[in-house]
Amino acid sequence: MSESLPFRSAVVPAAGLGTRFLPTTKTVPKELLPVVDTPGIELVAAEAAEAGARQLLIVTSPGKDAVAAHFAPMPELEETLKERGKDALLEKVRRAAELISVRTVTQHEPKGLGHAVACAADALADDEQAVAVLLPDDLVLPTGVLSRMAAVRAEFGGSVLCAFDIPGPEISAYGVFDVSDTADPDVKRVHGMVEKPPADEAPSTYAAAGRYILDRAVFDALERITPGAGGELQLTDAVALLISEGHPVHVVVHRGGRHDLGNPGGYVRAFVDFALQHPDYGPELRSWLGSRLEG
Ligand code: UTP
Repeated sequence: MSESLPFRSAVVPAAGLGTRFLPTTKTVPKELLPVVDTPGIELVAAEAAEAGARQLLIVTSPGKDAVAAHFAPMPELEETLKERGKDALLEKVRRAAELISVRTVTQHEPKGLGHAVACAADALADDEQAVAVLLPDDLVLPTGVLSRMAAVRAEFGGSVLCAFDIPGPEISAYGVFDVSDTADPDVKRVHGMVEKPPADEAPSTYAAAGRYILDRAVFDALERITPGAGGELQLTDAVALLISEGHPVHVVVHRGGRHDLGNPGGYVRAFVDFALQHPDYGPELRSWLGSRLEG
């Protein structure tokens, strides 16, 4: 783990209503929906730990206690599995608690992603100059982009976001960055951002993904922005305010895959993709899918 790592804490906002997953999300937090057998938020926690984060700050809402409970040890279950010699299962049960130290922060009302991130401010130590933010809905594959983003902050300072290159008309479904080039083709300086522009008006082909390394200045910016669409405090408005004040913001263009676990269509794709790669389920699923698609 590099001592020059610009962040120790990774904030995972998980206090949204998850309306696109109703009725399941009446009682089950969408962050706990399994991707094959592992909740999405555990995959994201593993990514944060791999990038060197030491603390995961999960922003939850009242009634979503199960999210934090997933990261707590379960001594009785662990003992039973041990007695029965179920070592592989024991390892799976323990993994979440052993990955990274977890703290929760409560967002009492779903006032937007920006507000959720602001709720984590008081949980940071005074000497933490930057923080990572990972949206648990968004699987960015393969992992490793946070480490590249950390290197960009070390070079340019300020805040660093993650982008995907989406050259087709699908760009209009995303927040799109207005950028200029740097010497590295995969690193761009950000001048602004447009939410869901018509494809022919998009300022670039670079769409925002749910990974951020934010300078601590973002918390001050979050206090100065006003609620946007739906009365919510938008994280992108705080980033836009920082840009307008000359704060450096860059993106790392991630040349890889991505799954959006936040809606049933994206979730199904992620589940199938992970299941196809799973040694126990992959081969059978592949042959079943083949015959199902022929039929
Ligand atoms: P989303 O808009 O994707 O999540 O927010 P949502 O609001 O739960 O989903 P829908 O639109 O109702 O289906 C992106 C991330 O920000 C968190 C969400 O939990 C999700 O991980 N979030 C959003 C908060 O923590 N608090 C909020 O007030 C809003």
